[in-house]
Amino acid sequence: MQTQNNFDIIVASLQDETDIQQKFDEYSTLMAYFRCAIMEVQTKFNVLNEEFSLQHDRNPINSIHSRLKSIESISRKLKSRDIPFTLSNIEKNLSDVAGIRVICSFTSDVYLLAKALLKQDDITLVSIKDYIKNPKPNGYRSLHLIVNVPIFLVHEKKIMTVEIQLRTIAMDSWAALEHQLKYKKDNEFTEEMTEELYRCAKISADLDMRMDNLKSSVYEEAAEYNLDEYENKIII
Ligand code: GTP
Ligand code: MG
Repeated sequence: MQTQNNFDIIVASLQDETDIQQKFDEYSTLMAYFRCAIMEVQTKFNVLNEEFSLQHDRNPINSIHSRLKSIESISRKLKSRDIPFTLSNIEKNLSDVAGIRVICSFTSDVYLLAKALLKQDDITLVSIKDYIKNPKPNGYRSLHLIVNVPIFLVHEKKIMTVEIQLRTIAMDSWAALEHQLKYKKDNEFTEEMTEELYRCAKISADLDMRMDNLKSSVYEEAAEYNLDEYENKIII
């Protein structure tokens, strides 16, 4: 049972066994704050999508997915870095507890939405990883942003960190299939298979470029392809 698992991990991480229930409640509260931050950012993207579709008669966002990192993954990640499992360590050291994935129609929409979000005065950019401009060696492409966003509670304002992955439908399908193929670990992933996966990523990048060109012929929209202006504005 999930709740029992969560409880067990917290109990195992405590030095002494006092206040177990209190620690459990505090952990649940922190997770609720992260869920609120996801809602805030998700709403921002929904608003941008709504406004854009009114103005341009098409949706730049195909779908939005979100997830809260499980207690097992949080515990594993902290342990792998030799960091004790405490609430403040979770907040200070993990930037991907709250995760949002925005699947866009075209590559230019990825940059358009990222810029529109980063312009908002309650959003603070923590870091950018542009794996579209600089794909990973395996061919993985996506734009990753870590941002801070405020959530407004009854008596206080809390600044929460959210990881946002923006990618096209083609980038998402490659990443999902690559994840599936690599996940099945009982047979070896050969060098030849790795190269084939990379070639598939190239085909997917080529598809995105051609679809973007088609879009430019159909819609009169200014296209964006970089976030250079933000790359020097990273605060941490
Ligand atoms: P984590 O410690 O795994 O969170 O990654 P990181 O700190 O190296 O950050 P990075 O921004 O490179 O990756 C964060 C997330 O992007 C991962 O958790 C995946 O969701 C996704 N990702 C990164 N690289 C790949 C990849 O090669 N394949 C797939 N399918 N997803 C990837
Ligand atoms: Mg991660």
